[in-house]
Amino acid sequence: MSERQLSKTEESTDQPLQTTSGETREQTDPEWTEYDFESRAKLAVDDLDVYYGEDHALKGVSMEIPEESVTALIGPSGCGKSTFLRCLNRMNDRIESARIDGSVRLDGDEIYQDGVDLVELRKRVGMVFQSPNPFPKSIRDNISYGPRKHGDIEKSFLARLLGRSDEEYEEELVERSLTQAALWDEVKDRLDDNALGLSGGQQQRLCIARALATDPGVILMDEPASALDPIATAKIEDLIHDLSEEYTVVIVTHNMQQAARISDQTAVFLTGGELVEYGDTDQVFENPKSSRVEDYISGKFG
Ligand SMILES: Nc1ncnc2c1ncn2[C@@H]1O[C@H](COP(=O)(O)OP(=O)(O)O)[C@@H](O)[C@H]1O
Ligand SMILES: [Mg+2]
Repeated sequence: MSERQLSKTEESTDQPLQTTSGETREQTDPEWTEYDFESRAKLAVDDLDVYYGEDHALKGVSMEIPEESVTALIGPSGCGKSTFLRCLNRMNDRIESARIDGSVRLDGDEIYQDGVDLVELRKRVGMVFQSPNPFPKSIRDNISYGPRKHGDIEKSFLARLLGRSDEEYEEELVERSLTQAALWDEVKDRLDDNALGLSGGQQQRLCIARALATDPGVILMDEPASALDPIATAKIEDLIHDLSEEYTVVIVTHNMQQAARISDQTAVFLTGGELVEYGDTDQVFENPKSSRVEDYISGKFG
């Protein structure tokens, strides 16, 4: 340990770090979040802070998320996982008390700059929530509503050049999105039925299909299986794995086995909104660098 690190550690013992019960004190080493990967960074987050009024919910988070992979965000309740996820498509803009400092680049472009079209951004960075929230409309309309609202269906000049009508384009979009979400075979004969008649697991796959319909590069998922039974959960997990061949998936989960099963890399947030460790999932679970992360993963707190 270098002299500088030693003196930092000594300092920190006079100033108690904020911890939940059971968490030991530890000075986070910036090297624990340095993750080298070979592919391109789809998202690059730099020194991100989020405040809700006086409450400092995320502290100086920096990480790069590789394209076409699954990144799991884990950590105890209240450590800022959902807050972080919402920063990636500026959903926190909708929360009045929220203030965000720092940088998030998507394909190299800063999303926190003036003039960013938020509708376009959320089309490129789709979101799936904890409880399935289909629109109270037909299965078909759940898929085509977004593209229609964004004007893609009316504007499908290319489709028309190829001699296809908007209806044909819509049919194709519905089938493609539902197929990608592993739902097509279950619903193809009842596309005009109300989506609220589907099971919970089917509704969640429909929400994933709806996010896929706007052709996003990134899909954010906030505990997408936590309201589902084990069979429905397994289907969502398989689906996430398949999607990562084409999409960049970022998933919050409180289920550590799930994170270990489905993700390529794992980011661990701990109390106080700090990103403590980030790396290859096997490394983080089998050989964590932080002793707090080790305690968390072995179930000593959280
Ligand atoms: N809309 C909000 N308004 C005020 N505080 C919030 C809001 N959302 C989250 N927080 C606070 O920010 C912190 C992080 O919350 P959150 O991101 O939801 O954590 P997690 O998803 O890890 O459970 C918590 O202290 C929480 O109370
Ligand atoms: Mg949350």
